[in-house]
Amino acid sequence: MVIFDEINDGVGFCLEGLTETELEFVRGRITEQYLSRIGQLQPDLVPIARERGIARYHTLPTTFDHGKSWPKATRLLDPKYVADFARMGFFRRIQSQFGPSAIISHDELNWRLVRPNQPSDIGPMHADKWFWDAGYGYGSMPAGYDRFKIWIAIHTEPGANGLCVKPASHRQEWKHHFEDKDGVRKPVFDENPDAIETELLPLAAGKMVMFHDELLHGGVVNRGSTCRVSIELTVLFDRNDALARAASLREEMTAVA
Ligand SMILES: [Fe+2]
Repeated sequence: MVIFDEINDGVGFCLEGLTETELEFVRGRITEQYLSRIGQLQPDLVPIARERGIARYHTLPTTFDHGKSWPKATRLLDPKYVADFARMGFFRRIQSQFGPSAIISHDELNWRLVRPNQPSDIGPMHADKWFWDAGYGYGSMPAGYDRFKIWIAIHTEPGANGLCVKPASHRQEWKHHFEDKDGVRKPVFDENPDAIETELLPLAAGKMVMFHDELLHGGVVNRGSTCRVSIELTVLFDRNDALARAASLREEMTAVA
């Protein structure tokens, strides 16, 4: 599989995964941050939150307002963990194809918590590129670099929650505009999302999807019985180097076939 081709041509995404040990590591880092935030919001909850685990967050006797309590800053892993992600198998496989220029962005290791049956926990359909275009708190791109996104299932119930995508949508223009909300410039989708056929990716915990920056995607209302937890990261790479490497990989694969 030539990852570059899968993401840029075809459906615009491809699947990868973490090992059990890697998944446990990521779960551990998210749980630490989660419990520390619970400790700020409602200290008496920490023991029971630890015992039940993050996937059962929705069963806690909380007294704080969920919608206001988890701004992005509280869900961003410390950038020091980028090095740990970069040592994982999936990233080695990316680097073996994209070359040494491929790096994980330090600005985006953000995890999400989606409670069961809560439509307000889900954002609208979008392409990540729109947020970069809006300058929405994302880092800047080094000259000559491109990027793609990775979404990793940390606690999921395949078929009942997760990420939905519109296959091949990165090869089409989608109407959107930008609006200022509370001083932040955000993209707004101008097409009817109900008219767009999407696919809910059946990703069990530890599975991941790597996708094009312009692929339409979004969450779905969680119809499972536990919270959905996922984490995202952005991979940056030198465009020309990756193109050249993809071309020679393609040739090698054709020769083998
Ligand atoms: Fe996104």
